[in-house]
Amino acid sequence: MSPLNIVILAAGKGTRMYSNQPKVLHALAGKPMLQHVLDCAKALQAEQICVVYGHGGEAVPQAMAQYEAEFVIQEPQLGTGHAVQQAMPHLDDNSLTMVLYGDVPLIQLQTLQQMRVAGDGLVLLTVNLTQPTGYGRIVRDADGRVLSIVEEKDATPEQRKIQEVNTGILLAPTQMLRHWLAQLKNNNSQGEYYLTDIVAMAVAQGVTVHTAQPAHAWEVEGINSKTQLAVLERTWQRVEAQRLLAHGVTLADPARLDVRGTLICGRDVAIDVGCIFEGTVSLADNVRVGPYSIIRNANIAQGTQVAAYSHIDSSSVGANCHIGPYARLRPGSQLHDDAHVGNFVEIKNSEIGKGSKANHLSYIGDATVGARVNIGAGTITCNYDGANKFRTIIEDDAFIGSDTQLVAPVRVGKGATIGAGSTITKDAPDGELTLSRSKQITINGWKRPVKQAKDKK
Ligand code: UD1
Ligand code: CA
Repeated sequence: MSPLNIVILAAGKGTRMYSNQPKVLHALAGKPMLQHVLDCAKALQAEQICVVYGHGGEAVPQAMAQYEAEFVIQEPQLGTGHAVQQAMPHLDDNSLTMVLYGDVPLIQLQTLQQMRVAGDGLVLLTVNLTQPTGYGRIVRDADGRVLSIVEEKDATPEQRKIQEVNTGILLAPTQMLRHWLAQLKNNNSQGEYYLTDIVAMAVAQGVTVHTAQPAHAWEVEGINSKTQLAVLERTWQRVEAQRLLAHGVTLADPARLDVRGTLICGRDVAIDVGCIFEGTVSLADNVRVGPYSIIRNANIAQGTQVAAYSHIDSSSVGANCHIGPYARLRPGSQLHDDAHVGNFVEIKNSEIGKGSKANHLSYIGDATVGARVNIGAGTITCNYDGANKFRTIIEDDAFIGSDTQLVAPVRVGKGATIGAGSTITKDAPDGELTLSRSKQITINGWKRPVKQAKDKK
């Protein structure tokens, strides 16, 4: 197969978004629209990717700097043909060039692969619409051969009845494309250089025009407004939910789930309503996620239960753990198997050993906790002195009494017990009871203060 070059048109102003941000940087499923297209282009293993941008200064190239792509500015914007012309100096004549759009975010790899095998010459991606208004129409001869594309504004009433429309996505031999683009004229109703005019040129030259169709109509939906963006977001979320259901995941309500990235599930996974998954999340067999939980970039091993309203971010959780309700695992938390993290417990950049428990109201930050440790309610690691962070080490089988402050750096030894209400500033030895609170006393005959009578004026 010939090498592939990809041009992504992303110069449109996006007036109807009513936003200061370039249109293609608005997110769908948690990711800028242009990034969806770039990821798809990358998956096609293109030799060269060229993004044609226009509005928003350097915002587009800056936001997409992690991609190996050429960014070419189109200023002013004189039409889709003019836009592709801007990319031509970066394309290789021995390649095929595919044109994609930064505001058509959900185009799928399989559809573009279909185009690559549709035939030599020019390949158009078309779709049949019962409401074709606004789109360029595909004009065919009596034998069904493509003759041209006519834009809505230039079409005759007869041509406007055609339901097969141009999605804009096409594939052409680069050398021919270069030749055709050089001949474009803007003598049409919009005064633009139409990319679509290359179709009639190809036909005149005896080059066959092939067509391919997307596997799903939503793949070629373009975004011009927040309304269209919201509709396509829901379409995509339905697709994701159906994919999970088809793999055997139990969803309490397929309409109340948001996947903003990649969610990988094992067998017998159950997800309750209102959950959001961001980045890459994997849930192993028998994991249950309670309602309104937010999980981002995390691995959760089998049998773990995440109860309602828990947040897990950039963390890993072992098997058969109990998390939440209302637990928060911040980045860098690692829970080993059988750990319990209960309500209003915040864990950050810490390791919690096998079978250890922090069930109520605690902050565990920058800590290494061994196995079978019990952390009492209200325990806090004081990991920050206002300038630097320090670690707390709690060794296996330690018992931390409720309402303890562990002032880091500090170590609690194996099997040590810390008495409730202690402020621990020095290492606590293995196996011993350490406590820092003063002894309980009673002051006999002490009286509560009474309210004093105010002077009346
Ligand atoms: C275009 C097609 C039409 C097709 C429709 C599908 C042409 C002439 N017409 O029409 O056949 O049915 O798309 O949606 O190609 N863009 C630039 N620079 C420009 C002009 C446009 O980058 O100078 C980009 C826009 O950002 C947008 C895309 O190209 O992503 C399409 O432009 P738009 O003006 O919306 O084309 P349509 O009139 O919809
Ligand atoms: Ca236009």
